Amino acid sequence: MAVFAQLTDLHLRPPGVLTLGRIDADRHAAAAIDRLLLRHGDIDAVIVTGDIADIGEEDAYTRAEMLLSRFSVPVLVMPGNHDRTAALRAAFIAWPGVVDEPVAGKLCHAREIGGVMAISLDTSVDGLDTRSHHGTLGPAQLAWLDETLAGCGPALIAMHHPPFRTGTGMDGIGLSDADAFAAVLARHRNVARIICGHVHRVIIGDVAGVTSMAVPGVAHQVALSLGEDRAQLVMEPPAYAIHIVEEGNGVSHVGYVDDYGAPVSFAEMAANAAPPQ
Ligand SMILES: [Fe+2]
Repeated sequence: MAVFAQLTDLHLRPPGVLTLGRIDADRHAAAAIDRLLLRHGDIDAVIVTGDIADIGEEDAYTRAEMLLSRFSVPVLVMPGNHDRTAALRAAFIAWPGVVDEPVAGKLCHAREIGGVMAISLDTSVDGLDTRSHHGTLGPAQLAWLDETLAGCGPALIAMHHPPFRTGTGMDGIGLSDADAFAAVLARHRNVARIICGHVHRVIIGDVAGVTSMAVPGVAHQVALSLGEDRAQLVMEPPAYAIHIVEEGNGVSHVGYVDDYGAPVSFAEMAANAAPPQ
């Protein structure tokens, strides 16, 4: 069994600078890590599914590296459409899979954790520079994924862009080669879960029969609005996810970063409840 914590869409600016002029992304990220360390001491790895920085600034990655180095378990990082891969690589140079380049130009990585192959894929296309925020895996990375899945047992795939249509305005900046990804997946039966970010809310889809889950951002969320052609920011609660892979099956949970008070025992509440009238 392997337990993975997922953090996504941290959207960090340099310390002291608010993201989009209103979001204290640094505080959200620090609180999310506090919460994971306090509540989930049993995690085997942390996966950060992109948009670590908001506009790709070096200082934001330096800060992210400092925050994430509090974990004693492996941390896998990958770029999203708001990242600059070169700056990300420079800050995380000593981290697993950051220097390896099994596919030229892509920051992808496969690492066995607790008997599960954790595969991180790079969907970024230098969106900040090209002003095109869609994602693409590319034929070479898909071939590497095909080969990796053929040679491993149970697997979990992590990527920034969801490989399915969401029915929201975010589809306009979705994964361009989702069909080719699905075709690779259909050739294998060992993927327990696909996890992603980008859409800044919980959205679950199926890809070649595999449950694929996008989770809320640590920094901010996108409003639920079906059929719209534009996305709008909403300050719903920042969150993280816990994914458990056991005997080839996945189960996923979403936890919240903010403090909603200490948990209270139902048995204790029942003992103190008013008797039936
Ligand atoms: Fe994002």
